[in-house]
Amino acid sequence: MKKTLALALALAMVLGLTACGGGGGTSQPAAGSNPGASANQPSSTPSTVANKDKPLVWFNRQPSNSSTGELDMDAMSFNKDTYYVGFDANQGAELQGQMILDYITANIDTIDRNGDGVIGYVLAIGDIGHNDSIARTRGVRKALDTAVEEGGAIKSDAVGTNADGKATAVKDGKLTIGGKEYTVRELASQEMKNSAGATWDAATAGNTIGTWVSTFGDQIDVVASNNDGMGMAMFNAWSKENNVPTFGYDANSDAVAAIAEGYGGTISQHADVQAYLTLRVLRNALDGVDIDTGIGTADDAGNVLSDDVYKYVDSERSYYALNVAVTADNYTDFLDATVPYAPVSNQLSQDTHPTKSVWLNIYNAADNFLSATYQPLLQNYDDILNLNVEYIGGDGQTEANITNRLGNPSQYDAFAINMVKTDNSASYTALLNQ
Ligand code: BGC
Repeated sequence: MKKTLALALALAMVLGLTACGGGGGTSQPAAGSNPGASANQPSSTPSTVANKDKPLVWFNRQPSNSSTGELDMDAMSFNKDTYYVGFDANQGAELQGQMILDYITANIDTIDRNGDGVIGYVLAIGDIGHNDSIARTRGVRKALDTAVEEGGAIKSDAVGTNADGKATAVKDGKLTIGGKEYTVRELASQEMKNSAGATWDAATAGNTIGTWVSTFGDQIDVVASNNDGMGMAMFNAWSKENNVPTFGYDANSDAVAAIAEGYGGTISQHADVQAYLTLRVLRNALDGVDIDTGIGTADDAGNVLSDDVYKYVDSERSYYALNVAVTADNYTDFLDATVPYAPVSNQLSQDTHPTKSVWLNIYNAADNFLSATYQPLLQNYDDILNLNVEYIGGDGQTEANITNRLGNPSQYDAFAINMVKTDNSASYTALLNQ
């Protein structure tokens, strides 16, 4: 009898653990992740801190209103240890526009493929409600003089197709190069969203370029994209073979390598700095040290960032990495996007920075930038910072697909969140407030 009870108890315990275990049952690693890669041990003492008081970092998708772009400061000041980590979207967008303009200027004698006097470009939009995507659309339009302002801001809507230059979201631009005036037209632009609702969708971009080519043919002189995932899909599907310069964003390794084969260029958003900051702000809060430790101020292992690679905006509780253009001139310096940034790659000691556990999600396991660049970087830094990170990969469509896998927040010391939609911070904070 006693034995049966003991057995039953043991079984119940095993089942109970499986049901609430972070790795068990509900959570799956993101595509491309290697859950066994971390050498870290789980944190030894279970946390007694209330979930609502645990360090929280939002990253890559800044809590904000997806229609107006207004920052969601409630989310970013959820508790005293809450921050956002991303990159300077406007500075990067300006660089992207300038990079395309520089290319056109340098190649003006050959750029107009059909010689009709109009430099035509098409634009792949990532997510019309994501502030990084909006900034890039605006940056391209501003540099190429196709921007139309409304209420003091450049319109960022997609035009669909614009064969005659009459679309209202853009205008025909005028560029004077070498004393001669040229017209620039945004022939087409579209949000790259698949039928299931995932945005920034590379496969959709790869198909759409086919449609655009059948409509516009050799009127297309330049292909622009809000990111490299979509840019590379269009390059591989069409522009590489047809020698049409294609520009993206993110400096993913495959895109940088493609510069040798005619990809026009991309922007590095210093993901190596962002991934570090994402985990570093959590580490600092867990250590109870000044938030600037290992960021603007060297830590005990010598890790420190210089202010040419990031900025902190206190009123927005946000760290922003700074961007760099990657073109034929400098791409060999950027070939591996997953290498930790040398000034912040010194191992922390276990004695002073004992292992802690972090729950972290990637909104879409299929997103090229997040899965091929950002997550591998995080996986390098989690070892350096003694963080035992559980990586959850979402489907890019619904918040619930991710929040369902945060069944037991009490099990973790800190959280790093990458929302599907920037408006949805409450889906996560509600779980921490329970
Ligand atoms: C990246 C994109 C990515 C998106 C997802 C952006 O910051 O540049 O490539 O797809 O974030 O949120």
